[in-house]
Amino acid sequence: MSLQAVRYRRGSLQILNQRLLPEHSVYEEIPDVQAAWRAIREMQVRGAPAIAIVGCLSLAVELHQREEGASREDLASFALESLGHLVTSRPTAVNMARAAQELSDFVTREVKRPDSTAESFKEKIEAMLDKDIQDNKSIGNHGAKHIISRAKTEKVIILTHCNTGSLATAGYGTALGVIRSLWSMGCLEHVYCTETRPYNQGARLTAYELVHDKIPATLIADSMVSMAMKEKGISAVVVGADRIVANGDTANKIGTYQLAIAALHHRIPFYVAAPSSSCDLTLESGGQIVVEERPGKELTDFNGARIAAPGINVWNPAFDITPHSLITAGIITEFGVHEPGELRKALTDNAHRDTSHTC
Ligand code: MRU
Repeated sequence: MSLQAVRYRRGSLQILNQRLLPEHSVYEEIPDVQAAWRAIREMQVRGAPAIAIVGCLSLAVELHQREEGASREDLASFALESLGHLVTSRPTAVNMARAAQELSDFVTREVKRPDSTAESFKEKIEAMLDKDIQDNKSIGNHGAKHIISRAKTEKVIILTHCNTGSLATAGYGTALGVIRSLWSMGCLEHVYCTETRPYNQGARLTAYELVHDKIPATLIADSMVSMAMKEKGISAVVVGADRIVANGDTANKIGTYQLAIAALHHRIPFYVAAPSSSCDLTLESGGQIVVEERPGKELTDFNGARIAAPGINVWNPAFDITPHSLITAGIITEFGVHEPGELRKALTDNAHRDTSHTC
């Protein structure tokens, strides 16, 4: 059975509390927008696509509760206000902000139609779940084929960072989706996953997914990456993204930048895998991305126990920016594998294609 970060049916949303993994698998009820905001901020659910999905589905659930007896205008203004609030939960991943913009435009248009109801809005949000899984499968397929076509060996060894799998998305995953596709094609020899300090998404979540799927894998500390590249025959590095801007600069989990530098030194192809919903063409370069800084306790404490010397200062940026020049092998989206410099054109062309289909 595949792992599920999100359980949804009309009027009900549950999330797998990722703070308790891997020891305990506990699904928590998310009855409203405020509960989703808290779960995202406290990282019970995390990963750029999952944040957007949980945020938007919580709104669908709350609208479902409120719709009886409420006017269209009241529901619309509640939806717009809630979307604005959800965007403030975590600043770096762009998926929630993009979904909020798209849904706000939709609500603003719909409320002007005399026969509109909350139904079409709920349906639009619910469609996100299927689309995310389909996009991830396309990413997996494009990425796996690209890696295989350039590999020097029949089976490849992949290094990945953080958690980009079923737990970070509606299912299958992005960078981990590429790994799943390689595995199902019989072309994967081994995976190295980093611990991903300080929050340990690699050790707790990616390792959990890899063991669950019986994919041969080894956990390494972040500080072992260069050594692993030198000694373990790594064929490619594949990571996810929280925001990819117009020139291809990419925000992803802290530690990604140093991984890209080390990959360049060892001449190992470096890929970023993400859906187009993680791309932000409104920003020109990575310097414009707001990087979230998280509480120092994530560094100083482990499982509730203090491990750092009392009184020490802490700097805890949750993400870093990898410049496009270090993304040597390409950016994998649901549309294909793009050189960073071609990203804007690829996304714009495909967006036009999508619109012309629906007309
Ligand atoms: O702080 P997190 O755990 O939300 O960070 C997650 C990452 O950086 C992932 O690589 C990214 O969101 C892509 S998830 C498909």
